[in-house]
Amino acid sequence: MSKLLTWIDDRFPLTRMWEEQWGKYVAPKNFNFWYYFGSLAAFVLVIQIVSGIFLTMNYKPDATKAFESVEYIMRDVSWGWLVRYIHSTGASAFFVVVYLHMYRGLIYGSYRKPRELIWIFGVMIYLCLMAAAFTGYLLPWGQMSYWGAQVIVNLFSAIPWIGPDLAVWIRGDYVISDVTLNRFFAFHVSALPLVLLGLVVAHLLALHEVGSSNPDGVEVKKQPKDPVTHLPPDGINSHPYYSIKDIVGVVFFLFIFSIVVFFMPEVGGYFLEANNFIPADSLKTPAHIAPVWYFTPYYSILRAVPPMFESQFPGVIAMGASVMAFFFLPWLDRGAVKSIRYRGWMFKIPLAIFVITFLVLGWLGTEPTDFLGKLGEVEIATLLARIFTVVYFLYFVLMPWYTKADKTKPEPDRVTG
Ligand code: HEM
Repeated sequence: MSKLLTWIDDRFPLTRMWEEQWGKYVAPKNFNFWYYFGSLAAFVLVIQIVSGIFLTMNYKPDATKAFESVEYIMRDVSWGWLVRYIHSTGASAFFVVVYLHMYRGLIYGSYRKPRELIWIFGVMIYLCLMAAAFTGYLLPWGQMSYWGAQVIVNLFSAIPWIGPDLAVWIRGDYVISDVTLNRFFAFHVSALPLVLLGLVVAHLLALHEVGSSNPDGVEVKKQPKDPVTHLPPDGINSHPYYSIKDIVGVVFFLFIFSIVVFFMPEVGGYFLEANNFIPADSLKTPAHIAPVWYFTPYYSILRAVPPMFESQFPGVIAMGASVMAFFFLPWLDRGAVKSIRYRGWMFKIPLAIFVITFLVLGWLGTEPTDFLGKLGEVEIATLLARIFTVVYFLYFVLMPWYTKADKTKPEPDRVTG
């Protein structure tokens, strides 16, 4: 084996790549629970790619056959039901993991200098993930697939001047049709996974260039190295320490993932919606169209903004801005320290309000706008969505002010454990 390795290393930098990117990569020794989700996101990415390949073997991207081919996978293909449930559960799991991973970034200021590019690649991954989920959702060609795509693609037609043409260009037709299904399939199974993989590689290269942050915000890479071990005092090699820690995360994740896959793959309509077990019908609009849970905070923002001159454009802009805002975090945060451990209440309270806001908007987005009744002329749910939309944007807009005014404690020189 060692001879073979030497033979390869003389021709290809295999050992060097392994050591630089993982084996000898020096990570801070104080990673906690929140640092499980990066490796878990990578694990879910692999699950999605592998299960996706097997689904593609029996799926038919044809408007007259797509729905049936999914039913065929569920009923006739050996283990097809398992592969499909793994893929549909994996989609939601991906967002759960990525949302927790992003939350870690928010609490520990992982996006701050010098990690701005890691964060930017991360937000690009997030956008790519949304595109992958959206295009994938059309493929089963159920009622929700069809009408969800119809609603979202129609949003583009709200853009002044070019909108209607743009929507036709995206669909390839005047309505969602077989043409749309074919191109969404192409994007979902090849273009988007390729871009996603490329972005994840860029994300990790950038991370390994500057080094990981940690719950104390101590820059371990800047500490003087021990002459014998060549390690900084607060650093350890990723392998074997974090290899083992990450496996613990994977096992725990698989435990919960399996419970969902085997016992509750629909999760009460949140992971797989009832309407999507009805074949797409362009003549029958479902009474209530809602996206899958991971999009609902943004959907709420879209619905909250009232139309102007009968155009939904302001809502579309607000929805776009609510996602794009994440790109600017590294420059909006003016705090003296990175980690929540050393920040004061002027950082903690806005963050807590933001998390609640995101959850409430998410909840409102799953329901029809009249589900809480009316207050005079106004729907209560719409009123709430408007208030929380304003709060959502205030979190970003006021960030330069409240992070600067916040009373922080000094960051320690060494990690605290
Ligand atoms: C497919 C999706 C993703 C994968 C596979 C992935 C993978 C990873 C891994 C393995 C790490 C190092 C371990 C860790 O810190 O947990 C990491 C760090 C990081 N990720 Fe991601 N990530 C993904 C998405 C995102 C997204 C959507 C964001 C933010 C919008 C993001 C922001 C960050 C940041 C800022 C770090 C550095 C953390 C630090 O050093 O403190 N990542 N990512």
